[in-house]
Amino acid sequence: MLSNTAVADGGKRKSLHGHWSSKMAFILAVTGSAVGLGNVWKFPYVAGENGGGAFVLVYLACVILIGLPVMMSEILLGRRGRRNPVATMALLGEEEGSSRQWRWLGVLGVVAGILILSYYSVIAGWTLYYIVQSAGGAFQNATAADVGAVFDNFVGSWQAVLLCHTLFMALTVFVVARGVERGLEQAVRFMVPALLTLMVVLLGYAITSGSFAEGLAFMFTPDFSKLTWDSVLAAMGQAFFTLSIGMGAIMAYGAYLPEETSITGASGAVVTADTSIAILAGLVIFPLVFANGLNPGEGPGLVFQTLPLALGQMPAGAFFSTLFFVLLSFAAWTSALGLMEPAVAWLVEHHERTRAQAAVIIGGLIWFLGIGSVLSFNALSDFTFLNGTIFDNVDFLTSNVMLPLGGLIIAVFAGWIMCRNSSADELGGAGSLYKLWRVLTRYVAPVGILFVLLKAVGLLPDLS
Ligand code: PFF
Repeated sequence: MLSNTAVADGGKRKSLHGHWSSKMAFILAVTGSAVGLGNVWKFPYVAGENGGGAFVLVYLACVILIGLPVMMSEILLGRRGRRNPVATMALLGEEEGSSRQWRWLGVLGVVAGILILSYYSVIAGWTLYYIVQSAGGAFQNATAADVGAVFDNFVGSWQAVLLCHTLFMALTVFVVARGVERGLEQAVRFMVPALLTLMVVLLGYAITSGSFAEGLAFMFTPDFSKLTWDSVLAAMGQAFFTLSIGMGAIMAYGAYLPEETSITGASGAVVTADTSIAILAGLVIFPLVFANGLNPGEGPGLVFQTLPLALGQMPAGAFFSTLFFVLLSFAAWTSALGLMEPAVAWLVEHHERTRAQAAVIIGGLIWFLGIGSVLSFNALSDFTFLNGTIFDNVDFLTSNVMLPLGGLIIAVFAGWIMCRNSSADELGGAGSLYKLWRVLTRYVAPVGILFVLLKAVGLLPDLS
């Protein structure tokens, strides 16, 4: 039976859920959570909507200056508390002489995970549909118009999208309920390298597409006149989303990390893998966009309207296209587990539910909330408020508000509330890397996040 009581062991706590078998197992699990639709689906379309180059530069700066230190902080808090994120923050708050109210950070994460998965599952459902279409040869030698028609017909039918969303949620609940993440951890071992390899092959195709230079220029020539505070916020939100940080998922994983594993090394490896896949996805997609006269600001359908074109024209196109969407579904699946974990762990530990019960309850709630996003692409596509459709609003609220807010609280806690000895202890001593982490965590990350958030909502005036 799971319990929220961590055991003291020579001054160090141990998680009762067990520990990762190796450093590699941890890196794989976190990479599995980080690499997902955010890299292949979201990064290119958000970069496209925000004008390319300057957005990409801000995104990379956010990943390195904010994402990396926040990820390290989140892992170290998780490992020190060794409980679910709500209980960990309450415990550490007390232990560091502050307050148990820090647990609200955990609550914020539970809610963010539920909301993100409600639309994430809808898009993951699209990838399931694309597996079937690919296997049936729908993209073989297809034109941009054919591929566009497949997309429009599918997404325009709420019944089809709802069916795929239901299927994906069922798959996720099944794995979470049975607690067989370890099986998926093995899948990550194969999936991430396979996805990378396939992206490199696609890159070869993109290079020969005739518009590679144009795609490259779009992604890497910054035009700062196009940069607004909204796009800076979008870049920061994307950094949080793609790294799975700011919502306690990585904290929950950190709780099972053995003492001797280097948090800095593991974080560096995950951030490198995640960023490489996103950049590769952009390098593949933008040349295809320009070669086929498509619009880079197309929105959420961008990847689904470009990649099948390239895949369909490769030799053995049906096979590669099926393989690609299978890999992408797996990537989405391993991310979905991370999104559900804080809510499930919390329900199990605080409300004495079995893991299976918790998975079904939380999964059912997420499925229901997801109906709003299902309908955002068809029946309710004209129902817009604030940032757009229901999907747009849930996405904005979670990626651009809740995750950065969670990251801000994590940085403030790890940098200011936690005493130096505690953080140095977790990060392997007070060397120069530690000092760099501390400066980034105490000053750069919190000030940067707060500044962008306030600027984007217009609460900070321009200085001119
Ligand atoms: N990082 C995932 C992606 O890029 O697709 C999304 C995600 C997973 C966000 C898990 C947050 C999380 F806890």
